[in-house]
Amino acid sequence: MRLSVTSDLWWKNAVVYCLDIETYADGNGDGVGDFRGAVERIDHLDRMGVTCIWLMPFFPSPDCDDGYDITDFYAVDPRLGTLGDFVEFMRVARDRGIRVIADLVVNHTSDRHPWFLDARSARDSRYRDWYIWSDEPEPDDPEGVVFPDKENSLWEFDEKTGQYYFHRFYRFQPDLNTSNPEVRDEIARILGFWMELGLSGFRVDAVPFLVEQVTDSGDGRLPDPHEFFADLRAFLNRRNGGAALLGEVNLPYDDLVKYFGDSLGNQITMCFDFIGMQNMYLSLARGDAGPLAAALRERPRPPRDAHWATFVRNHDELTLDKLSDSERQEVFAAFGPDEDMQLYGRGLRRRLPTMLGGDMGRIKMVYSLLFSLPGTPVLFYGEEIGMGENLDLEGRQAVRTPMQWTPNRNGGFSTADPAKIHNVVPSGDYGPERVNVSAQQRDSDSLLLWITRLIRHYRDCPELAWGDYAVLDCGARSVLAHRADADGETVLAVHNFSERETEAEVVLEGLDSSKVLTDLLVDGTVEISDEGRARFRLGRYGCRWFRVSTPETAPADSAGSS
Ligand code: GLC
Repeated sequence: MRLSVTSDLWWKNAVVYCLDIETYADGNGDGVGDFRGAVERIDHLDRMGVTCIWLMPFFPSPDCDDGYDITDFYAVDPRLGTLGDFVEFMRVARDRGIRVIADLVVNHTSDRHPWFLDARSARDSRYRDWYIWSDEPEPDDPEGVVFPDKENSLWEFDEKTGQYYFHRFYRFQPDLNTSNPEVRDEIARILGFWMELGLSGFRVDAVPFLVEQVTDSGDGRLPDPHEFFADLRAFLNRRNGGAALLGEVNLPYDDLVKYFGDSLGNQITMCFDFIGMQNMYLSLARGDAGPLAAALRERPRPPRDAHWATFVRNHDELTLDKLSDSERQEVFAAFGPDEDMQLYGRGLRRRLPTMLGGDMGRIKMVYSLLFSLPGTPVLFYGEEIGMGENLDLEGRQAVRTPMQWTPNRNGGFSTADPAKIHNVVPSGDYGPERVNVSAQQRDSDSLLLWITRLIRHYRDCPELAWGDYAVLDCGARSVLAHRADADGETVLAVHNFSERETEAEVVLEGLDSSKVLTDLLVDGTVEISDEGRARFRLGRYGCRWFRVSTPETAPADSAGSS
């Protein structure tokens, strides 16, 4: 594919890297990460090949939900820096050719936001209708509580004004009323503000909840949620044609695709594939590629100008809510048998390497999968070096420990007294002495350099992102084989979910012995028969990526070997 084409929709084969300023790097030694620290680490991302940074919430916040409870949408939390520091970060990222997006958390505010303080001051307050009020909780309450460990209702009684307010998440996060046109205008203003400062888009928090219809607005006409996103996207692209929205939409595929919008994709640009992700873990637990293959086959094709986003882990619990009860129990048994590792009855508060018992071959296979499956890959900071979790921390905080840069004090995150660090780094096998950036930069077998290589190949194979793809039968239960075709070019990737070495055979329709498969990860080619058959061996948790080429264009010394 031509670069002149692929660079136009930059997000379609981007590499997104999610980081939290608070835990990434501390520039002033006070024990809290900040923009001044993070800016000095941008070259780490540049060297890896990251093309887009996703900043988790960095706005003023009482920090009761790790910054997802905001008191001012137009400022930087003073603990993390100033607007000046933010702009400097943006400028350095731009200088390295890296785009930046940020969390857009407008489903709710903090209960200490001035809008809410005003809203709850009187029933006729100027901001009353910016939130959702009711004389009684809705009859289906508490169905749909997101954090059952802390909440048992979606409605909280407000003493002063004698009504209940709605909160989808914690009670200190009152939901904004997005059917109010003033609220919609304000949300657009927030987008516009940060775009003026250089953001290339937003990760939209809690998409389906943002527009849910909790109560009838009175006139019997319920605003169409999809109209809201189409309007938001239109606004975004009027301000910046290339800006994109990355949506957190954890819904069954049929409901989810509606959030992409019309046949061109005029709503959320990219939606995370939570279903594929959950089935990947089921496949890993079983050593059987079947569940992931089935999910990928069932996964709808997004509209032309939209895309899936793929991920292995994120900052929340590894949710397994879309698996059946027995499937979830299988994944729990394999990767998080202790109750302390589980959360909300639906997920695990662990990172990948600990779940896989530190088996580096298996961990590397999972990241090979991430970069070869169709969808924009999104990494959570620390994944590139195989960080573990700290189960001593509460709930989801377990996976939000500081980035481990060096083997030194606080993992090189901060020079402060360790007692001042909020989320203490883990110790033992996954502590900074064993897992850190600086050691892995010098070790050619490290996960960091493996991921750097995968990113290079992924960027060299835009067919994976742009092409038509198909999951192929390959005669081995443990192997996932998929091919992507675009502009007459074909890429094939195969992954072995089993610890046993195995053979697989695929039929490559439309190809014959005039072509060969050139291995992109190791030297070698695999022949294709006249009928389009290709056979190959895969080691324990082996993975291979191939490009279809003519024998003449295959690397000179690789003919015949495999
Ligand atoms: C999203 C975030 C999560 C947060 C919640 C409420 O699900 O990923 O971290 O707690 O929204 O904002």
